Amino acid sequence: MTAALDEQWKAHRLRVEAQLPLYVAAHADFPETLRESMLYSLMAGGKRLRPVLVLMAAEACGGQWQEALPAACAIEMVHTYSLVHDDLPAMDDDDLRRGRPTNHVVYGEAMAILAGDALLTLAFEVIAQHITDKSVAAECCLDLAKASGPVGMVAGQVADLAAEHAGEATVEQLEHIHRRKTGRLLCSALTLGGRVAKANPDTLLALARYGNAVGLAFQIADDLLDVHGDPQKLGKQTQKDATAGKLTYPSLIGAEASRSKAEGLIKEACQAISGMGEKGKPLIDMAQFVLSRDH
Ligand code: IPE
Ligand code: IPE
Ligand code: MG
Ligand code: MG
Ligand code: MG
Repeated sequence: MTAALDEQWKAHRLRVEAQLPLYVAAHADFPETLRESMLYSLMAGGKRLRPVLVLMAAEACGGQWQEALPAACAIEMVHTYSLVHDDLPAMDDDDLRRGRPTNHVVYGEAMAILAGDALLTLAFEVIAQHITDKSVAAECCLDLAKASGPVGMVAGQVADLAAEHAGEATVEQLEHIHRRKTGRLLCSALTLGGRVAKANPDTLLALARYGNAVGLAFQIADDLLDVHGDPQKLGKQTQKDATAGKLTYPSLIGAEASRSKAEGLIKEACQAISGMGEKGKPLIDMAQFVLSRDH
């Protein structure tokens, strides 16, 4: 990672991490265990890739990070909810996440489901309430809802589970799963940032192309890290996909071909935003990080 990216990422991460608990605390009257369970997963660390991308995309389009902060926090809430539910016994049945026992291990399955529900709903409340231009807020709600809902992340999760131990599969099917379960939400980070900065349709399209390519590459890297990664650095267990019978890039086409597919996607992403010039530099660096990441 370049020193410039490292510095900017850290600054944006701290802004997001300072704001997230304030949005949760904004409500005085809700069950204490629910609050604890939400904050347990939300404040457990994590790279904060999606919210940082929201802030970077807004800045790349000439906007201010401050006006993009509600959307950044909202997408991190949706992402965290997706992890809490992804780890449930009925789904991937994982007991370690972001370096800690998973939410259901600590709070029980019912509370983990409810904390996920609450994070998902709070995300849309935050956008509707804190993005001051209400037509931009509505556009952002629509963008995030489509990315995370029944044609986006949830659809991908359904397909991911259906593909477990399903036998014969094609690369097209696998790509479709990964684009939906991970790609769409990551893409939304870019377009949310662009929308808040009132980017023109051509720029939004370029950001979406970048986001879709980086999103797929990100999940390919996740699949590879499950095979070769260090659980300590990742904060989650590795070598679970094969036992669970998951359909992944390395299992279908091998590690080397997976890596070159990811490289091709990163090139595609960088090309898509080449018209942004110097302003797009942090996003270019971010794309390179996705390729080389070890956590
Ligand atoms: C993990 O996402 C789930 C996937 C979509 C692969 P991240 O790798 O971004 O997890 P955190 O947010 O850093 O914990
Ligand atoms: C996660 O995919 C996709 C989500 C929508 C959460 P994985 O199931 O591969 O993510 P990890 O490996 O558990 O983080
Ligand atoms: Mg999963
Ligand atoms: Mg999982
Ligand atoms: Mg994984």
